[in-house]
Amino acid sequence: MKVSKYALPLRLLHWLMALSLLSLIAVGWYMEGLEKSAFKWELYGLHKSFGVLLLALWVLRVLARRSSPVPSSVGILKRWEIGLSHATHSLLYLLMLALPLSGFIMSTIDRELAVFGWVVPTITPQSETLGSVAHTLHGPLAYTMLGLVLLHIAGAVKHRWLDQRHQADVLARML
Ligand code: HEM
Ligand code: HEM
Repeated sequence: MKVSKYALPLRLLHWLMALSLLSLIAVGWYMEGLEKSAFKWELYGLHKSFGVLLLALWVLRVLARRSSPVPSSVGILKRWEIGLSHATHSLLYLLMLALPLSGFIMSTIDRELAVFGWVVPTITPQSETLGSVAHTLHGPLAYTMLGLVLLHIAGAVKHRWLDQRHQADVLARML
């Protein structure tokens, strides 16, 4: 079935997750630089809880993505533009999973994780190496996502305002 817009659940999830992810990056960066204090640990708790919520939203989004048709860019965008946007979208999906997962892993090794006050059963293998790999990756993954999002926004802006063809306005599909 041909469609001109993303389905409503996909549009809602896109904007809700975009806003939450950018906020989590900002809070993550800010909280790490704080001196040890009750406020810092409170932010850590909120960051972890919302981060795990994002993991759940990722699952919902993938299920919604698989069960609804999405607009096609064939014949609308150039071949290299389609290739680049598909690669960016796939990497963003991957990072939206890898980021909370690395956070979850590092926060469930040698300690309890509470999500909005509810203690999560420990399912992570208790390996110190796994914990330190997840810890090393978490920050760089977040800043890689930020870089990709800038590229992603540049694409949307180009197609809306620089391309002279109305059909190339991919932003309309997501609004
Ligand atoms: C889903 C999206 C998430 C994003 C975008 C995100 C982003 C970030 C960022 C940018 C930092 C600062 C990194 C640095 O400057 O080195 C950070 C730190 C941290 N994040 Fe996340 N995070 C997410 C999910 C999670 C989850 C699910 C958990 C745990 C359950 C978590 C636990 C932590 C912890 C404990 C730190 C501090 C690490 C330290 O003190 O060395 N994050 N996060
Ligand atoms: C953390 C922030 C963001 C993430 C992780 C993200 C992720 C994604 C992903 C994965 C897709 C592909 C959707 C699919 O095929 O299911 C997408 C589509 C789209 N996003 Fe974002 N996005 C973010 C922010 C933004 C922002 C700020 C804008 C506005 C300029 C934007 C505009 C769009 C548009 C127009 C599409 C449709 C592209 C097309 O169909 O070719 N996104 N986004």
